[in-house]
Amino acid sequence: MHLKKFTVIAFLASMLIFFEYCSKNNGTNETTTGSLKPYLPNTPFNYNIIYPAYMGVTMNQDNNTPADNTVTNDGATLGRVLFYDKHLSKNNTINCASCHKPTTSFSDDIQFSEGFENSLTTRTSMPLLNIAFYRSGKMFWDERSLTLEQQVLQPIQNHIEMGLTLTELVDKVNALDYYPVLFQNAFGSNVVDSNRISKALAQFVRSIIPYQSKYDLVKQNLASFTNAEQAGEQLFLNAAPPGPGPALTCAGCHKPPLFVTSDPLGPFGLLDPADHGINNTDHFKVGSLRNIAVTAPYFHNGSVVSLQAMLTSNIPLHRVAPPDVQNLIAFMQTLTDQTTVAEERFADPFK
Ligand code: HEC
Ligand code: HEC
Repeated sequence: MHLKKFTVIAFLASMLIFFEYCSKNNGTNETTTGSLKPYLPNTPFNYNIIYPAYMGVTMNQDNNTPADNTVTNDGATLGRVLFYDKHLSKNNTINCASCHKPTTSFSDDIQFSEGFENSLTTRTSMPLLNIAFYRSGKMFWDERSLTLEQQVLQPIQNHIEMGLTLTELVDKVNALDYYPVLFQNAFGSNVVDSNRISKALAQFVRSIIPYQSKYDLVKQNLASFTNAEQAGEQLFLNAAPPGPGPALTCAGCHKPPLFVTSDPLGPFGLLDPADHGINNTDHFKVGSLRNIAVTAPYFHNGSVVSLQAMLTSNIPLHRVAPPDVQNLIAFMQTLTDQTTVAEERFADPFK
């Protein structure tokens, strides 16, 4: 009697485990978002907007867009759907936005991000904005990827991040009925291949260009800085941080108006015994400082918790005199543009 009861319970338990296992592994036609199709407008959003004139010089000089992958509205639309599609991970739990969240300017708010099996990345997620304006086009903190087109397929195949092979990726995308028309619109035929997936993702990422911060308004004479912000801008442009070493200003490396660093091999590196960066030289790429106030934690290992912490600790070239700290922070806060990143053309289409 007791034995029979036990057998029944054991049988039920094993069935439960079996179903749980199946739903995790054969879930290619299901999404965990509860919504099967992306919601998209009939006419695609505009991803080629006219930016304020003073941004133009950097946008031309530092642009890494290849001639065969300029941003089109249909290409970026396909890229947007792929960016938010959890089918791009092995168990349908993770999309690009899991680690590049729109609310934190397409970066993550924790030091290391969780991948599809809850393991952690070994570096901090990078904010995805002004990615087009890094002259060499190299990607990652250590620049190991030569182009954005190469880079966007890496997280999909990474064993910590999304865990697919390229063949699995193409099979999964092919099995979803909302993609043929999107590939047709973007590339003129509905053929799905990893090259097209990479191009579309790259187009979407390159189109994320903030231009509606207080800083932008000031540069167009539509607003003015407070005294603190004004003083902070002067420090950023002109003051070389104290201490030994070359007299470099913040702006010498983080170049206005897009605050991009197109020459990352400047004489600087946050020494890190666990990570030696670009070709083991202790140098690291740094992205644009636009929206920097909302992308903490900072630096390649996420070891710097706030702007205040950065300016008051002993990181070479990043420590300033105590009276300057609040002014520099006030200035960096004017670079925040939560309007552009919140636009629907950048938002999750599955919601
Ligand atoms: C599990 C978290 C995670 C997921 C998922 C993820 N990323 Fe990332 N991403 C990171 C981390 C961490 C880095 C920095 C890694 C490094 O430098 O070694 C990064 C770096 C990048 C960069 C480099 C930016 C620069 O300035 O060099 C791009 C571009 C990027 N990711 C795009 C994507 C896209 C597109 C997807 C989806 C296909 C994606 N990521 C999915 C965590 C993630
Ligand atoms: C010689 C070039 C150089 C100078 C000068 C410089 N920086 Fe940096 N900055 C970098 C590099 C490179 C990194 C990323 C290093 C890393 O992650 O290890 C960085 C990181 C940062 C970050 C964090 C970025 C992120 O996404 O995590 C901020 C904010 C910043 N710098 C602001 C400043 C300010 C303010 C000044 C002036 C007081 C300054 N920098 C001076 C090169 C420079």
